[in-house]
Amino acid sequence: MLREDQLAGVELNGYLCEQPVGRGGMGVVYRAKDLKLGRTVAIKVLARAFSSDEKQVGRFKREGKAAARLNHPNVATIHNIDDLEGLHYIIMEFLEGRNLEAVVESDGPLDPREAARFVARVAEALHVAHQAKVVHRDIKPANLFLTNAGEIKITDFGLARDYGADDGLTRTGQIVGTPHFMSPEQGEGKQVDARSDIYSLGCSFYFLLTGKKPFEGDSPIAVMVAHIREQPVLPHEINPKVPPAMSQVVLKMMAKTPEERYPTMAEVVRILGRMEESNAAEPEQAKKCAPEPVRPEPARAEPATGRGLGGSRTGRNKGLERARAIQETVQKSTRATPDMEGGDRREGWRSPTRRMGESGPRAGVDRPRTTGPRSGAGGEPSSYHKRKGSREAGPKRMNPLVPIAIVIGFVALALVVVLLMMK
Ligand SMILES: Nc1ncnc2c1ncn2[C@@H]1O[C@H](COP(=O)(O)OP(=O)(O)OP(=O)(O)O)[C@@H](O)[C@H]1O
Ligand SMILES: [Mg+2]
Repeated sequence: MLREDQLAGVELNGYLCEQPVGRGGMGVVYRAKDLKLGRTVAIKVLARAFSSDEKQVGRFKREGKAAARLNHPNVATIHNIDDLEGLHYIIMEFLEGRNLEAVVESDGPLDPREAARFVARVAEALHVAHQAKVVHRDIKPANLFLTNAGEIKITDFGLARDYGADDGLTRTGQIVGTPHFMSPEQGEGKQVDARSDIYSLGCSFYFLLTGKKPFEGDSPIAVMVAHIREQPVLPHEINPKVPPAMSQVVLKMMAKTPEERYPTMAEVVRILGRMEESNAAEPEQAKKCAPEPVRPEPARAEPATGRGLGGSRTGRNKGLERARAIQETVQKSTRATPDMEGGDRREGWRSPTRRMGESGPRAGVDRPRTTGPRSGAGGEPSSYHKRKGSREAGPKRMNPLVPIAIVIGFVALALVVVLLMMK
């Protein structure tokens, strides 16, 4: 029986697998030779463990169909989808180079202008995908490939879902994707749209600029709760080469609710383009192109562990419900196998994020932060503030004088009864 990890030297319907080039959550990618056309291709073979799972096979096939529909220079071309002896695979363009996660891990953060250019190219391609009603759903640096020719290619529309067709995948609460770059609405198992890709691209931008994932934690759930509740350290506070205006663009892409983000990828492309132009002309001008400053809310007193969430009882219950919902979706996740359950073996789940309890400023990094409504929000509290406000409102405490008054009342009543009896 064919095994996905033992295909070197094996022919799959006219394609000779040469050697594995990598392994991901769903299977193994091989460099292979197209025996008819004599060209080199990449073959992504779905793991045998998933080949019997109809949903996984469906999602895998959808990767091929979704990407094949897109004809864009920044999307890896899909040549075909096929299967042999129960193993399903996708034949695609072979990319020579490295994915951006590998680039940053070996060479450190990118030059901010280069990072912004890459992000703009990805945003352009995603805009085309979104117009075709395809959401990627798994945008992360490992799925952004930098070819030796210096081009950026998006891979893995595997989790993409045609949001015109309801196949129920998101509604059943399955989490697909990697928690480090996943939008809050994905983490909560809600239906997602194109703005979820904007969030994930914002997280990827953050990683390219800083070399750090915006949120880390002790478990995948902690990471997802952090996406929902915490604010990241600003990119320019980690890497001083990042212009503060660029940090604001990243933060707006990573806003907690879809409504607070840029409305479309076209808008992301536009703002990055304007920033690039004005950078070239006059660095000061770049500031004018930035969105209204978004000041991160101060970190909160609860650790992102899924325990002890919320302030008042009502708030805490809501927090626990959310954490439970997240936990359920994680447990249901069929892609969770190596990354989600075994943890990230490369870096663990440590966090650069300020947690509650770590309130003091860190030397050379922190500045005093305001606690009022965000500047630029016109004094209108954000949805975050509204949530926070409702949590703080909680049930009222009893006035401590009330029990004393009750006791005095009882004593007085007893005295009256005694006096009456003595009469
Ligand atoms: N078309 C391709 N050409 C060359 N290498 C590729 C191609 N597609 C993927 N790879 C490489 O193969 C490796 C595994 O990719 P794969 O997409 O299976 O996993 P991943 O993106 O790391 O994780 P996940 O499955 O969670 O998306 C990665 O290092 C990726 O860069
Ligand atoms: Mg991939």
